Amino acid sequence: MSGAVLGIESTAHTAAVGIVSPDGEIMADRKAIFAPEAGSGIHPREAANHHVVALPGLVREALADAQLAPSELALVAYARGPGLGPCLRTGATAARALAHAHGLPLLGVNHCVAHLEIGLLEGATDPVLLYLSGGNTQVIGYAHGRYRVFGETLDIGIGNMLDKFGREAGLGFPGGPKLEALAEGPELEPLPYSVKGMDMAFSGLLTAALRKLADGMPLPRLAFAIQETAFAMACEVAERALAHTGKTELVLGGGVACNARLREMASTMADARDVTCFAPAKALCVDNGVMIAWLGHVMHSGGYETGPADDKVDQRFRTDMAEVTWR
Ligand code: ATP
Ligand code: FE2
Repeated sequence: MSGAVLGIESTAHTAAVGIVSPDGEIMADRKAIFAPEAGSGIHPREAANHHVVALPGLVREALADAQLAPSELALVAYARGPGLGPCLRTGATAARALAHAHGLPLLGVNHCVAHLEIGLLEGATDPVLLYLSGGNTQVIGYAHGRYRVFGETLDIGIGNMLDKFGREAGLGFPGGPKLEALAEGPELEPLPYSVKGMDMAFSGLLTAALRKLADGMPLPRLAFAIQETAFAMACEVAERALAHTGKTELVLGGGVACNARLREMASTMADARDVTCFAPAKALCVDNGVMIAWLGHVMHSGGYETGPADDKVDQRFRTDMAEVTWR
């Protein structure tokens, strides 16, 4: 396949459009983020309405950045799941309209796999992905024809845990970056550390941290303890996945992977095992259209045939559902 691919991301709060060339050059990376009102979470319908307004302009801007006419594209890719139904449908409608209007093929990709495959653009070949975002906390890797989830959270996502604590502490949304800025060691306050087999749980940690906050523990000390404990849990599971699979590359993804301390802990663990750690630029860790475009390109050029499923969103599109024919 020759020609650039345009990717549309709209699984949750971020509407984004990215364009990549076949050799992996990032030609455009546009995004608009829905911000819920202070104190409230994301309402799927409101986020979708935001995306309805934002996407046409983002597509135009991305094409202008790439200096391309729509008809010069080789493919339109979009994230068909997992995510919030109304948000997914909005992105799918935009992708469908663009593809059909210009006679382009349409390909629906898995959002979580896109977070992994963007690591290949960074130079990885067969990595374990430590995917830490608001809604998702998973350790993913390719094995025997599918992307497998080796471990995941049993309750809330790690980013949601940080955001919930931040909200209770009056820090506003999102809490993750605010806690990072506040965190101050080296004294490590003990908090529940919950790794069960290859899975993790964060709600016990959240409850305990909130109790200590109510008891008057200084915020910087608590922020430090939350980061150290939660990130150690995630790194432990990632390390075990590397050990079990024998893979020698680790890719970080998801919004929480923007955190400098997480990056430091992951690369320390990787160094100790002779594993190469890929920490993509922050713009590629958070939800973005580039990773959707890139996965679309990888699948399409790898012989994946687009079919009826590519025209349908799937809120529960699990990482291991798709048979991987393009690797
Ligand atoms: P997904 O749909 O993949 O679950 P998402 O909707 O959660 O993604 P992302 O942009 O991947 O969106 O991640 C947002 C999360 O990342 C928020 O919970 C936010 O607090 C967290 N985050 C962002 N920057 C940092 C940081 N520097 N340290 C810790 N957490 C961070
Ligand atoms: Fe994401």
